[in-house]
Amino acid sequence: MSAWHIAPLNPCDAPWPLLLDADPSRDKVQGYLPRSTCFAAHADADGAVLGLCVLLPTESGAWELMNIAVAPGQQRRGLGSALLRHAIAWVHAQGARRLDVGTGSFGDQLLFYQRAGFRVVAVERDFFVRHYPEPLWERGLRHRDMLRLALDLPGA
Ligand SMILES: CC(C)(COP(=O)(O)OP(=O)(O)OC[C@H]1O[C@@H](n2cnc3c(N)ncnc32)[C@H](O)[C@@H]1OP(=O)(O)O)[C@@H](O)C(=O)NCCC(=O)NCCS
Repeated sequence: MSAWHIAPLNPCDAPWPLLLDADPSRDKVQGYLPRSTCFAAHADADGAVLGLCVLLPTESGAWELMNIAVAPGQQRRGLGSALLRHAIAWVHAQGARRLDVGTGSFGDQLLFYQRAGFRVVAVERDFFVRHYPEPLWERGLRHRDMLRLALDLPGA
């Protein structure tokens, strides 16, 4: 894999195919993207966006990871973990004590977050049935329930 670096990304420049890969609801993405803070992994060679993450402050003073995606041809090479580590460090530097994320109740993404230390704090039953017009399938199983995960950050 060629070299890459992580840098801030103007939300307007976030590539839609990547955003929709992580969150297939264009309406939802349009709702949070303009207010968000984004970072991207850029290819050193030409600046292409290979992956991105999208963060939003919550009303409780925490931050939420709204979206994280790596281009299909670049996955499983550590880019997603590097973006997640970058997001965690940036949120911590803002003085936040917690990073939240919502994800499916099974599958690779859940493993991805749990490996980074996220813990389950709540279950929203039938979230994906109620909020997404098209069924979301993974390995032949329909996603129904959303797990709310949180990573507690050390005090400043
Ligand atoms: C989830 C995602 C951002 C991870 O990015 P990535 O660059 O592939 O992640 P990494 O290479 O850092 O992998 C870290 C770990 O996550 C897990 N993982 C990620 N993708 C996986 C996959 N397709 N299959 C199995 N495990 C996977 C593994 O535990 C992996 O570690 P390993 O390679 O040592 O087994 C990426 O797969 C992606 O863009 N998926 C589509 C969008 C999406 O679902 N976003 C999350 C919405 S909640």
